[in-house]
Amino acid sequence: MLTWMDSLRGRSMMRLTSFTDAEMMNLIDLAAQLKARRAAGVRGDLLHRKNVALIFEKSSTRTRNSTLVAIRDEGGNGEYLTRPDIHFGKKESVKDTARVLGRIYDGILFRGFRQQDCEDLAKYSGVPVWNGLTDDYHPTQIFADLLTVKETFGSLDDVTVAYVGDGRNNVANSLMMGCAKCGVRYVCCTPKELWPDESILAEAEEVAKRNGVDIRVFDDPVKGVKGANVLYTDVWVSMGEEDKTAERIKTLSPYQINMDLMRATGNIDGRLMFLHCLPAFHDRNTEATKDCGALEVTDEVFESKYSKVFDESENRMHTIKALLVSALCDRKGV
Ligand code: CP
Ligand code: NVA
Repeated sequence: MLTWMDSLRGRSMMRLTSFTDAEMMNLIDLAAQLKARRAAGVRGDLLHRKNVALIFEKSSTRTRNSTLVAIRDEGGNGEYLTRPDIHFGKKESVKDTARVLGRIYDGILFRGFRQQDCEDLAKYSGVPVWNGLTDDYHPTQIFADLLTVKETFGSLDDVTVAYVGDGRNNVANSLMMGCAKCGVRYVCCTPKELWPDESILAEAEEVAKRNGVDIRVFDDPVKGVKGANVLYTDVWVSMGEEDKTAERIKTLSPYQINMDLMRATGNIDGRLMFLHCLPAFHDRNTEATKDCGALEVTDEVFESKYSKVFDESENRMHTIKALLVSALCDRKGV
């Protein structure tokens, strides 16, 4: 029997703070149950006849496909809408689009630029809205990350996650809060100019303290990763910041995750894994890296036994399914 908290029904997720710590842990557990159920061959009807709009202003491989297949698996329908498809924010205000789509759909997943647009969709649509990445946050990603850590290490107890790279991007902001909420120690290794926003850091520190863990920020990655069990990185240039590419490569080159940095954890023979939300610049096969080789992670680490990036990627689907099922399903159980 699948179980989830009644309080999750009808809920939107703008950021991880949309949920209590207990609700967040419950969603990770529900995702694990849904994953096992799918592995057993069950394609259910938990989202039977539910219609979900996917508004995407930015590109996506994982979030788009995870959401569409999660909905389809459970008997619902997802509609993928990009900027050229709808009037969103151009010929029609976000508020009006929200009021129209809220009359038609049961829920909306949004990937875009402005966090405020995501919040306006939730405010005016009257249906649950999930943030599938904005410039500021990427909360759905973190459920998959923490599920992967839990699966690999058996629990989230006594785990240190060290994020190395752009310390103030959407993934870093959400990862910091996700770790705090789940009682996981978080270390951010990033140059001074990319330190987390002070208010976002202070908010996460308060949550971490409540859960008996701490958050530390280092500009020296070698010192910062000492004792870490998870080394995590993301692209150095997020979508929408492409004009900063040359500057970021220069600033962040010392923050590449390579085998030396993996060894600097002191855990190379113990509990250690590498995570990346993907897509990753880890080889010479992309336009961005053909002249300079790997960027944020070397091939050696990306392809190593420590790398759980494809488990993490698969877990996007199970965790997004958990969010949708808990919010939209009219009943509990298989
Ligand atoms: N990690 C992630 O959000 O990937 P996509 O951009 O492919 O959705
Ligand atoms: N920080 C990255 C995450 C991609 C999943 C970006 O916003 O492009």
